[in-house]
Amino acid sequence: MKPEGGGNNNFIFFKSGLRFPRFFPGPMEGVMTPLFCRVFHKLNLTSGWLTPYYRITTGIPKPAKLQKFLQPYMEAGLPVIAQLMGTDAALLAGAAGQMINCGARGINLNFACPSRQVIRSGAGGAMLRDIGLMTGILSEIKNALPDISLSVKIRCGFEDWRESEKIVPALTDAGIPDFIGVHFRTVKENYAVVPNGLERLRRVAVLAGTVPVIGSGDVFLCADAQKMLETGCAGAMIARGILQNPFLIHNLQKSEKRRITAEKGRQHFFKTLQETAKEQPDFFKRSKFLEYAAMIWGGNSPQFSEFTAFSDRELLDFKFFQNQPKLFPKS
Ligand SMILES: Cc1cc2nc3c(=O)[nH]c(=O)nc-3n(C[C@H](O)[C@H](O)[C@H](O)COP(=O)(O)O)c2cc1C
Repeated sequence: MKPEGGGNNNFIFFKSGLRFPRFFPGPMEGVMTPLFCRVFHKLNLTSGWLTPYYRITTGIPKPAKLQKFLQPYMEAGLPVIAQLMGTDAALLAGAAGQMINCGARGINLNFACPSRQVIRSGAGGAMLRDIGLMTGILSEIKNALPDISLSVKIRCGFEDWRESEKIVPALTDAGIPDFIGVHFRTVKENYAVVPNGLERLRRVAVLAGTVPVIGSGDVFLCADAQKMLETGCAGAMIARGILQNPFLIHNLQKSEKRRITAEKGRQHFFKTLQETAKEQPDFFKRSKFLEYAAMIWGGNSPQFSEFTAFSDRELLDFKFFQNQPKLFPKS
């Protein structure tokens, strides 16, 4: 593990002074709803958030809009880094200032998103093709807000992962980013299987020098996260893995004996979704519940097909087992 990403086992102290969990949920636009965040808070499944992207296109959003965006992440008092996506340095700097005024503890720039619509607009992963634009945006925000925690999220390249040889030093040389989040695939690879993801991260960690690298990609088990740290990454952001096992980040902080099995974790997560949607009915959306079930158990699973036949009431009342055991039985 890189000493520069200092801190204890569970937290990293970035050079801006921000204390942030070593393992945290990878941002997932469309998945991280207010319901999702509330459930994560109730079950204590994270100690910090990096939000999904907020797109900045034509103007600086009003504080009320940004507050509404941030509120679900901030409600438990955890540190929140707001992710911005855009191509206009002045607008991004303005929006970053507003996000900080609204309570965000840091700003992360999305230079990673592979969505076709985003790429067509020149934002997200398309920015990897214009190193000058990326570094220009970083400098403009740093000049406007010198004391904030500023970071980036990239993929290893646009077409070829070896583009990281130029991209990473350009982003880290000025010493601006607090950390660099790296999904090891290229934009072109989208979510294809890549055999050398960890090797790529190992190289990126060397290229980043003293700037901590937070790895991303294919962490589904505690052992995967450990392997990611062995590449020199200071931490990991875990996206799809926390749907397949919502207690994965929790488990990374516990001894093997005290870990929650994936299936037990999925059931408790879904049960807490049900309880929370009953407490706050405007949180309930049938399509979202089914989407979560598909992501949690798989779109071809018997659980998911059973759920699709349920009425809304049944979706909310379904019990996995009659006497649900306590999550943390007193020993
Ligand atoms: C549904 C979904 C939405 C995502 N939205 C974002 C996003 O808003 N910002 C971002 O930086 N990454 C986003 N990602 C990428 C993930 O954070 C992560 O880097 C990627 O999925 C690889 O990690 P994983 O194998 O742990 O899923 C998204 C991924 C998924 C599956």
